Amino acid sequence: MFAVRFLLFFQVTGVYCQGIVWKTVINGTLPPHAFPGGTRRDRQEDTLYICKGNYHEHEVCGKTSQKTNVCTITYVDRAIDYPAPYQVLTLPLWVPYTLRWVKGYSYGKVPPNAVEGGDMVYVGRFLNGSEVILGKVDSINQAFFYDKDGVNEAWLKEGYDVLVKEEF
Ligand SMILES: *[C@@H]1O[C@H](CO)[C@@H](O)[C@H](O)[C@H]1NC(C)=O
Ligand SMILES: *[C@@H]1O[C@H](CO)[C@@H](O)[C@H](O)[C@H]1NC(C)=O
Repeated sequence: MFAVRFLLFFQVTGVYCQGIVWKTVINGTLPPHAFPGGTRRDRQEDTLYICKGNYHEHEVCGKTSQKTNVCTITYVDRAIDYPAPYQVLTLPLWVPYTLRWVKGYSYGKVPPNAVEGGDMVYVGRFLNGSEVILGKVDSINQAFFYDKDGVNEAWLKEGYDVLVKEEF
C-alpha cells in the first residue's frame, strides 16, 4: 500500500513529464553531451553512460560506453545486451537544469525529480570503493538492480544513489 501511494505521489508531481533529453543511438556512436555516469575501474578504465532500451515493451535503463555498441540492461534475473537503436541520456549545455546524484536511498525509494529510466524504474548507481555500478531503482520490486557479471542480475536493498533533475 505504501508503494502504491508512493508511486501515485510521483506521478502527480510530474516525474512523467520531465523534459530530459535522451538521444537515440542507431550505430553505437555516443551522442554529443552524453551524461557520464561514472568510471568503471574493474577491467579497463572505461567511462559508463546511461542508456535506455525498450525490452519486450518495457523501457529499462542500463549502461553503455564508448567501447561497446550495446545498452546493457537487466530484466528478470538476467543481464541483456540490447543492440541499437537505444537511447542515451544527455545533458546539453543549454538546458535549464542539471543532473545530480543524491546519496543513500533504500528499498526502491527515490527522491522527488528522480530521473525516470523506464516504467516505474529510475536511474541509480552504487559506489563500491572507486568502482561505479550503474543500474535501475525498481520502485515495485523495492531494490536497486544491476548487471553482476554480464550474464546475471543482482540487487541491493540499501545504500544506492539516485540521479535527479535539478532546476536552476
Ligand atoms: C553514427 O550516427 C551518427 C548520428 O546519426 C553520425 O553522426 C555518425 O557519423 C555515425 N557513425 C558511424 C560510424 O556511422
Ligand atoms: C565490491 O567490491 C568488492 C571487492 O572487489 C567485491 O568483493 C564485492 O562483491 C563488490 N560489491 C558489489 C556489490 O559489487
